[in-house]
Amino acid sequence: MKLFVDTGQVEEVRTAASWGILDGVTTNPSLIAKSGRGFKETVTAMCEILPHGSISAEVVGTTVDEILREAHEIASWAPNIVVKVPMTPAGITATRHLSREGIRVNMTLVFSPSQALLAAKAGATYISVFVGRVDDISGEGMRTIEEVVQMVDTYDFESEVLVASIRHPMHVVESIRLGAHIATMPFKVMEQLFHHPLTDIGLERFLDDWRRAGLHIFEPAGAR
Ligand code: E4P
Repeated sequence: MKLFVDTGQVEEVRTAASWGILDGVTTNPSLIAKSGRGFKETVTAMCEILPHGSISAEVVGTTVDEILREAHEIASWAPNIVVKVPMTPAGITATRHLSREGIRVNMTLVFSPSQALLAAKAGATYISVFVGRVDDISGEGMRTIEEVVQMVDTYDFESEVLVASIRHPMHVVESIRLGAHIATMPFKVMEQLFHHPLTDIGLERFLDDWRRAGLHIFEPAGAR
């Protein structure tokens, strides 16, 4: 499963990229607005940090013409950009045009299998199914992931299911169990994936035992 970080902060992308396990970045208009930097400078900086990853950048137009115009502009900034387009009738029409032109689309704000079907048929590269926002209103976000993964498998669509709006590590664990292709998560959640209390306790014990026994890996100078 690919791991993406969901952020508007270039420094978070740099840190996550330095771990060597980052496959991509998703942004959205709210995250970019919160970053305090310009849209193009933020997205192009991320593209440079992760040249072999995919960076999703979202249009804000709402008509087919506006979406196409903005998508062409955004896609021209770097080869590894995926244009994020909202799940609306105009978004679906634009996605059909863009995918035929070879511009990759991440269809965002998908909440149901029927919406996901339209996105797949329009040729979206990624289908971003939001889970946290559904859980927030007492729904079962991961249930939709299960249905969409099954739909993509059954009909052999080329689209990849991207689990979005992740709130905690269990959303990532469930994404693995359901066979989702990609999980995008806030930087904080990605950091949480590293941690387990037994890892910390285990490491401390190994190092203590080693130290107490006076062992070493490198021969001390002059010991030969
Ligand atoms: C997806 O690409 C979105 O940017 C994101 O996951 C939205 O998450 P939120 O519900 O935490 O805003």
